[in-house]
Amino acid sequence: MQRAVRALLGSRWPLLGMAGALAAVVVAIIVVATGGSLAVAALTLLAGLTLVGLVAVGASAREAEQRARRTEKQLKALTSAVEAVATSVQSVAERQADPTGGPLAAIIGAQRLDAAVRHDELVALHEELRADLHATLTERQLAELSALANLYAMLGADDEVPAFGGFAASPRTVLRLASLVRRLPSDALIVECGSGSSTVWLALACRHAGKGRVVALEHHERYAALTREALARHGLGDVAEVREAPLEPVTVGGEKHDWYAAPQWTDLRGIDLLFVDGPPGSAGPRSRYPAFPLLATALDDGAVVALDDAQRQDEADIAADWLAEPVDGVRLADGDTVGRTRFFTASR
Ligand SMILES: C[S@@+](CC[C@H](N)C(=O)[O-])C[C@H]1O[C@@H](n2cnc3c(N)ncnc32)[C@H](O)[C@@H]1O
Repeated sequence: MQRAVRALLGSRWPLLGMAGALAAVVVAIIVVATGGSLAVAALTLLAGLTLVGLVAVGASAREAEQRARRTEKQLKALTSAVEAVATSVQSVAERQADPTGGPLAAIIGAQRLDAAVRHDELVALHEELRADLHATLTERQLAELSALANLYAMLGADDEVPAFGGFAASPRTVLRLASLVRRLPSDALIVECGSGSSTVWLALACRHAGKGRVVALEHHERYAALTREALARHGLGDVAEVREAPLEPVTVGGEKHDWYAAPQWTDLRGIDLLFVDGPPGSAGPRSRYPAFPLLATALDDGAVVALDDAQRQDEADIAADWLAEPVDGVRLADGDTVGRTRFFTASR
């Protein structure tokens, strides 16, 4: 209430004071003019001056009070700001004092560590794979190159031979077959399922060894002709023969297959080396399976059977079945694997 009255009158105090002082002067003049007592006039003037003084003191006191309030407000705001800063500083100090850096820092730290470990592992794995790949490729290529040089030095082809690569058996395989020819009996019979450059190399090996002959079964007219041409170029027509044998349906071990037409191989007896490199996989699944069941009785005791592309799943399954299923008393024993070719030995 007191505050409200003060607020209401606050701005009028100087005016009221001045009016009071003026009234005191007027009263003093009237007293003097009407011949009144000088003492009364002086007292009236003194009262007016006192009024002016009081008003001035009151106004300046109010102003001082307002300033004090403003200062107090600012001080309060400053104090709470300082307190907020102090709280933040304290929490930072606490976090710094915490050796684990707090839960968030722990999570970030763990993730950083994890990422660093994974990065190191990946770098190490990458290096290992690169080194492996380099070593594998170089070793395989070196082995094939050395087999190729070995073949040419051993058999000295003096005209063009169908190229290695693609469908052809690899130099390592052909080198092993050619070196086996040297150890075969003088009347050795070599039978090949699928003709090509291997037919020419086997015929060259027979001529070089001065023994043996080659019969190649070929289902494809064009490739039969190409192989015959290559044999003729080398004057090997009397050592190797390509028999064109279209694929025809046959059931072996309860499985249906397309295999070389029967009349082209039923006359074969005393096979010493059988190289199974056809029919191609495009002829159907397990296309090479019939070779051993159908030719087993034509194999000599101790004959070598070679199955190419042994790294393929179909050929791995075929090899397992051949080893597990003797045919008319003829069984196969597992031998070594050279490049992509797996070797077996037949016995009765
Ligand atoms: C794996 S290849 C036999 C290759 C042969 N034993 C050799 O090492 O040269 C199987 C069949 O592919 C076909 N063939 C032969 N030479 C070919 C060539 N250059 N391109 C595509 N097919 C070919 C023939 O029909 C052959 O019977």
